Amino acid sequence: MDQILVRGGKPLGGTIPIAGAKNACLTLMPATLLSEEPLTLTNAPRLSDIATMTQLLASLGAEVASLQGGQVLALSSHAIANHTADYDIVRKMRASILVLGPMLAREGQAVVSLPGGCAIGARPVDLHLKALAAMGAELDLRDGYVHAKAPGGLKGAVVEFPFVSVGATENALMAATLAKGTTVLKNAAREPEIVDLAECLRKMGAQIEGEGTSTITIQGVDRLGGATHPVVTDRIELGTYMLAPAICGGEVELLGGRLNLVGAFAAKLDEAGIDVSETPRGLLVRRRNGRVNAVNVVTEPFPGFPTDLQAQMMALLCTADGVSVLEERIFENRFMHAPELIRMGAQIDVHGGTATVTGVDRLRGAPVMATDLRASVSLILAGLAAEGETVVSRVYHLDRGYERVEEKLRAVGADIERVQA
Ligand code: UD1
Repeated sequence: MDQILVRGGKPLGGTIPIAGAKNACLTLMPATLLSEEPLTLTNAPRLSDIATMTQLLASLGAEVASLQGGQVLALSSHAIANHTADYDIVRKMRASILVLGPMLAREGQAVVSLPGGCAIGARPVDLHLKALAAMGAELDLRDGYVHAKAPGGLKGAVVEFPFVSVGATENALMAATLAKGTTVLKNAAREPEIVDLAECLRKMGAQIEGEGTSTITIQGVDRLGGATHPVVTDRIELGTYMLAPAICGGEVELLGGRLNLVGAFAAKLDEAGIDVSETPRGLLVRRRNGRVNAVNVVTEPFPGFPTDLQAQMMALLCTADGVSVLEERIFENRFMHAPELIRMGAQIDVHGGTATVTGVDRLRGAPVMATDLRASVSLILAGLAAEGETVVSRVYHLDRGYERVEEKLRAVGADIERVQA
């Protein structure tokens, strides 16, 4: 099995290109199920999660061609041949639930296994189901599957989410495009991936207003057409690589990065003593002199500090000057990277949803184990800062969400390679 070997302590310099967003692509791909006409996605990231979604869509009868080395995905669902999203594929990735809304909206029926994905908490799908039920879907949970029917088609409804869910907003948004009448989504997620999805759906002929705010209004149409759409920049990959020069020192330009994708995160970096500025090509990140300052972080839905950057931020704060408190408010079990960072010499106390990090002078390389996608990259970042060698195992988590991580970091001077165990 692959491992990543990192030898830390080198300042970085150069440029890193940022890929299209995994999470945007995973919601744009199922949008193909809404239309008989082709959907072409450009700027797609090359990741194992995208391969899993390809496999899932193909199992439903969609055609997905991967072109230009995977950067272009040509999707077509002129007919949906099978209405069951099988456990064997769905268990690999939680985003599989995003085929439910589109399939139900177009076909009036869908059977989707309850999902798996990263082990970062219970992560139910009740909000997805409640939204679809409000739109007239009849739902039955049996044998680990959601059996959904809408014999007369879905109907527009007012859906108020009790708390913000990215996936439930996406599922309801896609379903509403083909529902009869008007749907209003209240307390909707405002993430850039939602805006990207709405923009793509609008190109396909959907009538949507208010994306990027907490109220989205959708006027249902009879059918949707084809479109070509570029996937928005991956703000989590962007934030992850912004942390590389912050941790190691040096100066790195992140190509394609924009501040409006990472506002709250960049503000915390500034507080910690890291300069971030916009350039014509992206974002330039440079560590100011001396040790990083301790900062407190609370994860929140967008535009707040993203939970998907909490683990990586913790890696930075392990060597900060002082005590930092990280509060995780989105997922209840998302500090599994802490015991691994402790193996590298970090001082971290976890109590419930709060981690207190007391900065140490230096981390030391160690063998560590990735537990989920973002945790795995936080260990690589910590390894870049540590003295000696760090070997990260179980990197299949990493390959779900980061394309060519070792190549991108090596290009800016990091001593990192993929090795066989
Ligand atoms: C998406 C992202 C994930 C990110 C998360 C929060 C994708 C493919 N994944 O996940 O990387 O960490 O947003 O920014 O886009 N919840 C319920 N019931 C539901 C749905 C969610 O209780 O029906 C809870 C979850 O357990 C979690 C919280 O709501 O505690 C937010 O989850 P949600 O925003 O739905 O995350 P995902 O869409 O799964």
